Formats: sequence, C-alpha cells, structure tokens
Amino acid sequence: MNLAVTLGPLALRSPLIAASGTVGSVVEFSETIDYSFYGAAVAKSVAPVPWDGRPPPRMASAGSGMLNGIGIQNPGIHAWLHEFGPLLGNVPVPVWGSVVAHDVDGFAQVASAMSDADVEAIEVNLSCPNLDGSIFGLDATLSASIVAAVREATSLPIGAKLSPDAQPISAVAAACAESGADWVVVTNTAMGAGFDPASRRPLLSGIVGGYSGDGLRPISLRCVFEVARDVPEVPIVGCGGVSDANHVVEYLLAGATAVAIGTAHLARPRIARKITQRLHRYGKANGITRIADLVGAYEPW
Ligand SMILES: Cc1cc2nc3c(=O)[nH]c(=O)nc-3n(C[C@H](O)[C@H](O)[C@H](O)COP(=O)(O)O)c2cc1C
Repeated sequence: MNLAVTLGPLALRSPLIAASGTVGSVVEFSETIDYSFYGAAVAKSVAPVPWDGRPPPRMASAGSGMLNGIGIQNPGIHAWLHEFGPLLGNVPVPVWGSVVAHDVDGFAQVASAMSDADVEAIEVNLSCPNLDGSIFGLDATLSASIVAAVREATSLPIGAKLSPDAQPISAVAAACAESGADWVVVTNTAMGAGFDPASRRPLLSGIVGGYSGDGLRPISLRCVFEVARDVPEVPIVGCGGVSDANHVVEYLLAGATAVAIGTAHLARPRIARKITQRLHRYGKANGITRIADLVGAYEPW
C-alpha cells in the first residue's frame, strides 16, 4: 500500500506523525526512534522565554491513559535555536516546530524566530491544559487572532492544534482555517484530574492536567469526525490514543489525512514500525493500494 499523503501544502511519505512533547526536540530521539516510519516529527512546544514548568508530580497513570501536568518546560526560543537549530537538518525526518506563549505577540515572536531553523512547518499549540489561565483553543476568536499573527510572522506551513474540550470544536477549526492555518491537529490532551485515595493528594501538583492515551481516542475521533463534517476544506491531523494500525485506520475513516502518535511512544518508542507493517497488512487484506483513499471513507449505516 502506498502510504504517501498530501496534507495541505505538504507531501508526507507516511501519514504517521510523532506528536509534540513525546519525542523531545526530535534530535535526541534519533538513536531510539526509527524516524523512517514517520512523515514528520514534531518538537516539544517552545515559548518566547524559558519556562520551568510545574513542580512534581507532573505525570501519573490514570484510567486507561495518563495525566501530565508538565506545564511546557522548555528552554525558550533563543536557547532552543542555539542548542537544536544546527542539528535539525541531520534528523532523518522532516521536523515541525511547535510554538506556545501566554499572548498573541509571544506566539508570533516564536514563530518568526523559529522560521530561521530547519523546520518544515510550525504547529501552533492553542490547547495546552497545563498553563495558568485559560486554554486559548476554547475560544474561536482568540484562536483566530493567534493563528493570524503566526500566519503573518512566518511563510512556513502552519497547523493549529486544538483542544478536545472546545465546544463546538468545528467553530474553532473554522476560525483557525479562515485565519490561515493550513491544517488542524485534532486533538491535544483533554483536561483531566485524579486523586490518590491513600495520600488524598491530587495526582498532579497542578491538580488539573492533560489526559492522553487509550481513553482519549473515542473523544478525539468524535472531534475529527465533527471537524471533517463541518469544515471539509481544512485537512486534519488526528491525534489521541493511537497505539496500533486499526487506530490509524479509524482516524483516517473519520476524516483525518495524517495521524499523530503521542503517549504510546513513552512505553514503546519503536511503535511506528509495527504500525506500519500492520497498515500494509490491512491494505493487502482489504484491497487498498493507496492509504489516502481511506480518508473520510467510512461506510454509513
Ligand atoms: C508527556 C507529554 C507532553 C506533551 N507535551 C506537548 C507539547 O509540548 N506540545 C503539544 O502540542 N502537545 C504536547 N502533548 C500532547 C501530545 O502531543 C498529544 O497531542 C496528546 O498526548 C494526545 O495524543 P496521545 O493520546 O497519543 O498521547 C504532550 C503529551 C504528553 C503525554
């Protein structure tokens, strides 16, 4: 099966994307992860200045997934460019940067500076649940302003990363597309919390954090389905709880063009190889020669 897909202006050799925050800066995972199985890998989000993130505990297993409340610890764009900028061209996969900030100008500033690095595209992280204040991606107008400012700041392709907590998520996706997003990533983590009955303490120091992994998948799939139905002109990167080839097929059927793997990397950094093998097996068994033919191709009842 031909795995190549076209995501807005980009041609990807595979629909599999390594999700932001789960492969570090991409560079340091080159030895661990076989990047030849990915169409792109997304670096952890970077802010205008260094952020320390939240105090521990910052990660916990919860239900069939996990909670994280890292708070986007990152070195800030200038140190990031200095440390990783010169190495990005050596990684055997197209690297996408990811920008985050506390205000519109901050997003634009990071996107502008990042454009000098060897990145193929930029994700706009509108949806981190671990920052003080609200999630930008819950507000269509604010999301549109951020995307418009990033669009102005860079000529690179941009994707807007949305929150599964947005209601309706299609309104945010439409606003981002109108403001210049070349695609939307559906979704980031969902807002979640957990408590330890023994210590009676919250599982995360910040109490509310991001829920990811298996339990997120049906929610993100619903979001992908809604965005594909309501905003058919915007391409979608599906994300949430992907750990096998059937999950990838589900996202494609729901309307995603590409599919990001996040939490699954933490336990199985080489998971994309197995997923790729199984995708080929699925193609063979079902007479599908181009994976792109599966996009939005679910059979109605
Ligand atoms: C430990 C951890 C760190 C993350 N950091 C980021 C980040 O810096 N920027 C971002 O856009 N998403 C970040 N995410 C969200 C993932 O990219 C992904 O959207 C989310 O976890 C849902 O996919 P999954 O269920 O496959 O993990 C992070 C997720 C985890 C688990």
